[in-house]
Order: sequence, then C-alpha cells, then structure tokens
Amino acid sequence: MLIANISPRSMGKTTDTGMMAHALHEAGYPVRAWDADESQHLTQWSEAADGFPFPVERNASATFATDVTPLKDGIDIVDVGHTENHPHIADSVLKVADLAIVHMEPSMADWQRVTEPRTSTPVAEIVARSAFTRPDRQAPPVWILLNRVRTGVRSAQDIRGMLRDSGWNVFTVMIPNLDELKQATAFPVERASRGPFGELVTEMEAKGLIKNG
Ligand SMILES: Nc1ncnc2c1ncn2[C@@H]1O[C@H](COP(=O)(O)OP(=O)(O)O)[C@@H](O)[C@H]1O
Ligand SMILES: [Mg+2]
Repeated sequence: MLIANISPRSMGKTTDTGMMAHALHEAGYPVRAWDADESQHLTQWSEAADGFPFPVERNASATFATDVTPLKDGIDIVDVGHTENHPHIADSVLKVADLAIVHMEPSMADWQRVTEPRTSTPVAEIVARSAFTRPDRQAPPVWILLNRVRTGVRSAQDIRGMLRDSGWNVFTVMIPNLDELKQATAFPVERASRGPFGELVTEMEAKGLIKNG
C-alpha cells in the first residue's frame, strides 16, 4: 500500500513522514520511503543519519504513478512536494495512493492554507480530483495529522473541531511541538514507535487504515 503525505506548503510534513516511517518500521512493517519533493529534504535526512534502516528512493516527478508500483506486502511512504508549488507531483502520487495524510499545525495560518487558500487549489480538491485518474474512480481516504501542537493553548482542540465540522477526518493522536522533533531531521531516529508516532501507528491500525501482515 502507499501513503501520500501532503501539505500545501512547509507544514511539518517531512518531519512527520520520516518519523512515521521509522515508527512503522519498528512496528514490523516492511517500509519503503519515497522522497517526492524537489527539496530532497528526506533524502538529506537519511544521508545525514548514515542511511535509514529501510530504503529511501527518490522520484519527484509527474510520472511517479507510472514509475512506481506500490508494495503489495509493505508500506510505501511518500513525502510529496508541496501542493502549492508542485501540484503535478501530488496529482501523480494520488493516482496510486491508498491513503492521503495532510500535515498541518493547529493555527489559523495553516487552517487557511488547507481550507481556503488564495493562491492555490484547496488540498481537498486536489485529493478529490484524483478520483478521475484512478481505476475505481474513487479518491483515497484523507486524514489530517495535527503537528507542532503546544500544550496549554486551546487552538488544537478548537481547530480540530472546526476541521471536523467541515467534514475532515482528523487523527486523535496529535504530534507535540518538541525541540527534539524540530531538530530530528539531521540525525538517526531511535525508538520512534515509543512516542506519539507509535500511538499514531496504533490509531491507524485501529481505524483499519493499515494492516500488519
Ligand atoms: N513536532 C515538531 N515540533 C517542533 N518543530 C517541528 C515539528 N515538526 C516539524 N517542525 C519544524 O517545522 C519546520 C517545518 O518542518 P518540515 O518537516 O521541514 O516541513 P515540510 O516538509 O512540510 O516543509 C522545521 O523547522 C521543523 O524542524
Ligand atoms: Mg519537506
């Protein structure tokens, strides 16, 4: 199966994607990560970490869907280029995705980027239009992962409620704003499954979004 990790702009996507890939790997899933962002940030992270314990491939192109055959018994995790700048990459990855995850902070700025952007197509429409290109004519399910959540402020629950009222699926697990996560992307990752990313894997399993074995 293939998970497309998307966001309109820089919204914590590479950090979430790399950590989630490690948590899935530690949970026993065969994982293959894809850097489908021209920034090559995920590739640089894996090189700086002397290689992740699973393959990291690169394909940031409009031909992703024809170049890549998703794993049958494993999970392809794709860090997709920002949809505001590179919609052609997202369009292609979404042709073969089984699940799309939108990454954002619970702030009004990210709320606007996701739900009512002024300079690009809303991400919900990008996912919805992928239906036309898929064999079953159905868009993949899409879930929002809230990241960089600060403790003691009300915005996370408020924005989560606003998103759900607008019809979005939002994971219960939220990724906290942590200095160790802020600095994660140049270093090897250890025990990703023991923190919030492990809880995210459990929630994805409980919701039937991924299957082990
Ligand atoms: N959970 C987190 N806590 C603190 N800082 C974070 C967290 N996740 C991401 N960041 C920081 O937010 C910024 C954007 O993250 P990044 O993963 O590069 O986003 P994107 O891939 O969407 O451009 C970076 O400075 C990163 O270190
Ligand atoms: Mg990135």
